[in-house]
Amino acid sequence: MPRLQSGNIMARKRKGEGQTALVTGASMGIGVDLAECFAKDGYDLILTARSESALKDVAAKLAGKYNVKAAAIALDLGATGAGHRLAEEIRSRGLSVDVLVNNAGFGVAGAFDGADETGQLGMIDLNVRALVELTHIYWPSMLAKKRGGVLNVASTAAFQPGPLMAVYYASKAFVLSFSEALWKEAEKTGVHVSCLCPGPTVSQFRERAGTGKTKLSRVGTPMSSAGVARMGYRAFQGNRRVMITGARNKILARLAPFLPRKTLLSTVYNLQSPA
Ligand SMILES: NC(=O)c1ccc[n+]([C@@H]2O[C@H](COP(=O)([O-])OP(=O)(O)OC[C@H]3O[C@@H](n4cnc5c(N)ncnc54)[C@H](OP(=O)(O)O)[C@@H]3O)[C@@H](O)[C@H]2O)c1
Repeated sequence: MPRLQSGNIMARKRKGEGQTALVTGASMGIGVDLAECFAKDGYDLILTARSESALKDVAAKLAGKYNVKAAAIALDLGATGAGHRLAEEIRSRGLSVDVLVNNAGFGVAGAFDGADETGQLGMIDLNVRALVELTHIYWPSMLAKKRGGVLNVASTAAFQPGPLMAVYYASKAFVLSFSEALWKEAEKTGVHVSCLCPGPTVSQFRERAGTGKTKLSRVGTPMSSAGVARMGYRAFQGNRRVMITGARNKILARLAPFLPRKTLLSTVYNLQSPA
């Protein structure tokens, strides 16, 4: 009998074949690169964000490049009940979700005093509420199937309070805390939970958040979104609880709890101030 060539990709089953990853915030930035990591390993994709044409372009590109199915569902996840509407649309298309990648998020820089309430509450709606809503929807089926899981995107902002960007930092602290707790609850079930904590990364995030003019934006070089996504993807596959990207970010995040709180607050305040 002829042996299969070990280099024959079609003959080898890819890790994600038969599974579907739902990636939020997949129209640009880190979400596109996370989606690519999953597609490369054979996962079918469901991509969501608000920008329909960008989403469709990403879906078509990844489906063609990696021979997977990719659906694009445009929706504002910050709207109340959007998670359930998304899940309903997914069900109505006959699709299911094995891996949930909660990546969609945004920040608003500046003092809390005088900040627009819509933006402040919007961060909680998207970064926190939608993430919990989607996780709550798909968690039971993951546990029942004993596979798949959740990859949440937090930030190095999760490791300390963030004066001059208070709600964003607090929202990411929530994501980290929630993710670590679920990791423990899912231990030995076969379901993976990882929290990706990027430091400054090249994307639309800074421009949208208005952090481009802060002292922090002048420190170091932002990492590429593709590199950040690969670290997150590998962490998820290894069921690594927390992945902080980059050596400098790791050291700073791990150092934060040991610094006097007042020193830490003054340092972050200074870094978030205009340059
Ligand atoms: N870049 C950084 O320096 C950095 C650092 C740490 C953590 N992060 C985190 O990484 C994640 C990805 O951010 P990014 O850097 O890739 O930023 P980005 O380029 O601004 O991408 C954000 C994504 O979220 C989507 N999104 C925003 N609001 C949405 C809404 N209401 N409903 C549905 N989708 C929405 C955007 O698509 P639409 O606009 O089309 O909806 C886009 O696809 C975020 O959670 C962010 O907090 C980023």
